[in-house]
Amino acid sequence: MNKNMLEIGGVSVEQLAKSCQTPLYIYDEEKISTKLAQFHDLFQSDALETEVLYASKAFTCKALLELVKQHGLSLDVVSGGELYVAKQADFPMERVYFHGNNKSYEELQMALSYGIGTIVVDNAMECELLVQVAKQSGHSVKALLRVNPGVEAHTHKYIVTAHLDSKFGTSITHKEEIAHMVQTLSAIPNIHFEGFHSHIGSQIFDANAYVAEIQTLMKFVYELQEEYQIQTKALNLGGGFAAYYTAEDKPIPLSEVCSTILDTCSMEKERYQLPLCKVMIEPGRSIVAEAGSTLYRVGFTKQTANKKYVFVDGGMSDNIRPALYQAAYACDLANRMNEEKCEKVTIAGKCCESGDILIEDVMLPHAQRNDLLILYTTGAYGYSMASNYNRLGRPAVVFVKNGKARIVVKRESYEDMCMMECDELVHI
Ligand code: LLP
Repeated sequence: MNKNMLEIGGVSVEQLAKSCQTPLYIYDEEKISTKLAQFHDLFQSDALETEVLYASKAFTCKALLELVKQHGLSLDVVSGGELYVAKQADFPMERVYFHGNNKSYEELQMALSYGIGTIVVDNAMECELLVQVAKQSGHSVKALLRVNPGVEAHTHKYIVTAHLDSKFGTSITHKEEIAHMVQTLSAIPNIHFEGFHSHIGSQIFDANAYVAEIQTLMKFVYELQEEYQIQTKALNLGGGFAAYYTAEDKPIPLSEVCSTILDTCSMEKERYQLPLCKVMIEPGRSIVAEAGSTLYRVGFTKQTANKKYVFVDGGMSDNIRPALYQAAYACDLANRMNEEKCEKVTIAGKCCESGDILIEDVMLPHAQRNDLLILYTTGAYGYSMASNYNRLGRPAVVFVKNGKARIVVKRESYEDMCMMECDELVHI
């Protein structure tokens, strides 16, 4: 065994690079399972029914959904495409929730024909459309209404979704509009209005943000009951639980965030004497982020006046987050794990864009051509936001566990990328 070589799930990354090539998304399957089990076990309460939904936008594929299913979690999808993957994975449709601010007629029709459990309705026009589709299809479906409590979690501005002018949901200050939407939905026998949904941001480090969200929502639910006789059975509080990317990050322990949410819900339910019986959360990032890493091969290095660059064989096409959110990551030379980190370098990708920098100024051992570089915590919003920019194929995804590896998503070949091209006459 080479002590300088990193192993993941009992497999050396050198072996993975040889067998699967690079760049490569590597998931430690045990870590995903542990998170799923923790959320399932910790989000339990004597006072309330609970449900944990995995937000599949963070990363979805059939192999992952198999694990989600096995651990008894439910699922959040935001498009016909994510819903289709859920169907392909044979995910129990009654445990699927359909989100999104601009669902199409076809998507709603598809969801109802699949027998989806719940539609999370975003706005007044969607209410009308859902009523139309539900009447036509005759399928029975539950509905939650997305509201915006105006609570801003402390996070990067691009990923705050609940400020008052958010494109998501309806502000809770618009009570009459919300009451009208509930009445519209409730008038249809096969739509069952359950309650409200909100999501206050992503990569949240402060449990008080959830306390503020719950207190605001419960007061709103109470007022809606008093003023409009609307009964709320369920509340979905969204996701946003932080993951560990670098030493700067101090994520709230899951046990703490789960108990804070559940205790606050019980207290507020008690305070307003509400008939609320169910509470949900929908983590995405916190389940898959830390389980995933990206393995790259080092190509050239270059010394400029002020910087030393280490170039890798992927970049913003497989991880847009540094360029889009200035997201910070940690890395190692995976074949020099015990060597001294003696050089400050900048890790750059191979895309034609100056902003294609994965990490600015990081200490590493002296990097040489053909070394392996591992970027940690890329399991969420990495593959799911990947592109073919510069016609780089999306990397393969491999799951490793107990010394065994299995490819769960193939690498995109040049042929794959050309597959959609054609020259077909459009009949007008
Ligand atoms: N529920 C709803 C309604 C959401 O909008 C989101 C994320 C989640 C749940 C899951 O949030 P999580 O637990 O993963 O934070 N692309 C950005 C993150 C965008 C999050 C969008 N909504 C990034 O790479 O940081």
